[in-house]
Amino acid sequence: MGKTILATGGAGFIGSHITLELLNSGYDVVVFDNLSNSSPKSIARVARISNGAPVFIKGDVRDAAALNALFASHEIDAVIHLAGLKAVGESVAHPQRYYDVNVAGSTTLFNAMLHHGVKHLVFSSSATVHGAPKTLPMRENDPTRPVSPYGSTKLMVEQILTDVSKVGAGWSSMILRYFNPVGAHPSGQIGEDPLGTPDNLFPFIAQVAAGRRECLQIFGTDYPTPDGTAIRDYIHVMDLARGHVKAIKHLLEQRQPVNTTEVVNLGTGKGASVAEVHRAWEQAIGADIPARNAPRRPGDAPHYCADTGKAKALLGWQARYTLAQMCQDHWRWQQINPEGYGT
Ligand code: WQD
Repeated sequence: MGKTILATGGAGFIGSHITLELLNSGYDVVVFDNLSNSSPKSIARVARISNGAPVFIKGDVRDAAALNALFASHEIDAVIHLAGLKAVGESVAHPQRYYDVNVAGSTTLFNAMLHHGVKHLVFSSSATVHGAPKTLPMRENDPTRPVSPYGSTKLMVEQILTDVSKVGAGWSSMILRYFNPVGAHPSGQIGEDPLGTPDNLFPFIAQVAAGRRECLQIFGTDYPTPDGTAIRDYIHVMDLARGHVKAIKHLLEQRQPVNTTEVVNLGTGKGASVAEVHRAWEQAIGADIPARNAPRRPGDAPHYCADTGKAKALLGWQARYTLAQMCQDHWRWQQINPEGYGT
């Protein structure tokens, strides 16, 4: 009998790629998503390009009755919990939404799992829990001091999950801290489809490259980095997805002691500056991309980069895709789907 994985938020950018990798690795997948920032078309596309089709259930992680019905009607072996809000700026303007969806949604899910005896969970967290890092590369046990309500919700859920995992019968869980996920499936069939003006660098550059926006603004040219622009650890979403499959295998094969949680960074370990990303994009599309210098964006740290040793030692996982491939795959998705999934 194959194992069945529940992916909350499985229709979103990262979730759709994880669903695809799980199906291609022989798992059955149930996607539970309220479609607040995703399209059911992603699920249809995943079914088209993968070895299987996920079951899709529309629902919200704060809805205990919906979760209980799901666990009662499907034999779930493990959960990947991705459902949540993720816009840093919006979390400052509307913190209560973030605590409600991200924190209350997670506790509702954990309650339902405890009730139905589901014991394994992989949680989608973020390197942003560290705030401004004091040392580089960033290790999992470095101090955490989030600087936005979004980051605080991720850290709170990490703490709740760690405590629940200590006492849940047979529980083991893994917290994956993402650096900057970008790119798209090489087929160009699934990818990131941001609502409105993109906040993040890759989707913004993609829209400038496509002529949908006039000019990239480079936020900050006076950072203490070699070229003055901020450095991030961009990771291809397919590498990220493969990391989740490794984490699920690790838990299901009981390679982790019961009643423990492990925190693992998912990054490449190689940083790229905004100026380097801009150049990599110009090379990927074979044309100039208009850009102008702008002031720093409030709250941005100069440099983020993962220490990847634990992911390698524990999961045997390492990122494979280069920055050039991230740009090429993101660009293919943008060209094939100029309006994303459309309405
Ligand atoms: C990268 C760099 C910008 C846009 C955020 C969240 C994090 C995670 C990923 C999770 C920065 C610069 C950006 C632009 C620019 N989210 N930039 N012009 O801020 O590292 O991380 O997204 O769900 O939690 O904080 O990523 O892509 O927004 O920015 O110069 O138009 O690009 O200032 O230095 P960030 P990003």
